[in-house]
Amino acid sequence: MEKKKQWRFDTRVIHEAFRPEEWQGATQPPIFQTASHLHPTAESLSDTFGGKSQDHIYMRLTNPTNRVLEQKIASLEGGKAAVVTGSGMAAITTSCMALLRAGDEFVTGNSLFMSTYLLFSNVFKKYGITPRFVEPTDIDAICGAINDKTRFIYIETIGNPKMDVPDIKKIAKVAHDHGLPLLVDNTLATPYLCRPIELGADVVIHSTTKYLTGHGCATGGVVIDAGTFDWESGRFSDFKPFVHRKGPLAYIDRVWREIHINFGTTQAPFHSYLTAIGLDTLVVRMERHLKNAMKVAEFLNGHPEVRWVRYPGLPEHPCHEVARTQFEDKGFGALISFGLKDQDACFRFINNLNMIYHLANLGDCKTLVIHPYSTQYLSFPEETRRYLSITPDLVRLSVGIEAVEDILDDIAQALEGLT
Ligand SMILES: Cc1ncc(COP(=O)(O)O)c(C=O)c1O
Repeated sequence: MEKKKQWRFDTRVIHEAFRPEEWQGATQPPIFQTASHLHPTAESLSDTFGGKSQDHIYMRLTNPTNRVLEQKIASLEGGKAAVVTGSGMAAITTSCMALLRAGDEFVTGNSLFMSTYLLFSNVFKKYGITPRFVEPTDIDAICGAINDKTRFIYIETIGNPKMDVPDIKKIAKVAHDHGLPLLVDNTLATPYLCRPIELGADVVIHSTTKYLTGHGCATGGVVIDAGTFDWESGRFSDFKPFVHRKGPLAYIDRVWREIHINFGTTQAPFHSYLTAIGLDTLVVRMERHLKNAMKVAEFLNGHPEVRWVRYPGLPEHPCHEVARTQFEDKGFGALISFGLKDQDACFRFINNLNMIYHLANLGDCKTLVIHPYSTQYLSFPEETRRYLSITPDLVRLSVGIEAVEDILDDIAQALEGLT
């Protein structure tokens, strides 16, 4: 297929970075299930190791199936290059480790996915790295936490499960005024709803396990480099060899060369293949996710058994206006947090559900529910749970793409069973 012009986003999710005529007519990236690749001569393998060719060497380094996904997602996010990883957490670890050395600090929003919070607060601390947690919606707090040891600012587009929406444009300006890159976990929004690079972010991260794959069938992650940050600035003198090698792509080169390869955060090509299939339908799935989530949030908001609802689509949500602007009125995500009377009511609600799946995941085409306080956050000290807004009365719902009437019916009958 001849690419004659820049396609629209909805077309690029399907056709970008893949031309069947280059793959013997295959219409999905073939799965290259091989640990290593044969090289015809001693010279060719040496040249590839020397970076003179883009040929593949070994699966832990690169893989043709993975490369298609990297190029496609980089394009969808408006980035220049990407590295796919074995999980979202692998993407978060590699993206941060490429920037951090013992003694460094970084500023991070405090409404983070649970494992990200643990990685930052417990694991990184072991290596002498200090995260400075702040409310990501408080620009003054972000500015106040930056010092001469800070290496980056980190936020999630929509906090999970706090459901706050930081202002990416404003935070990117703060970051750049201080000579720092901004890293954004865009998992909950997807590039359909928000493209942080267009708002000033320098690095975008995803757990592709969620909406990008969309069917709860593969774990994966990706780190995308905008390719626009100045890695030659004073604070980043340790980037010199990477700048020398790759110029504006110094960061993704470091993610790949120093961290991804050596920590072995490789993505299985079969998972990239499943994600590529899922991506084809991202736009239509997201349209339905967003429409359904809005209706479910409104229903919950008006229900007498429901004490509170946290969803940025509701006008009373403190981040509603930022979300409206940032997401260009397309929607507000498909994750909803809401409160029942107490933990017992949450358990009874979950046990009453018939269709909705009870499990630890989000971003599946099926509607999913979990009680975070007694599961993902079970081992957290009470004080930390409170700090992260994880209360015993909180239910988290990941709204799927089933007929919304059936989702509402299931929720309604489960709530009725509480009386
Ligand atoms: C916002 C966010 N980022 C990252 C992750 C981690 O992704 P994975 O489970 O693929 O490692 C999750 C998982 O739920 C998430 O919700």
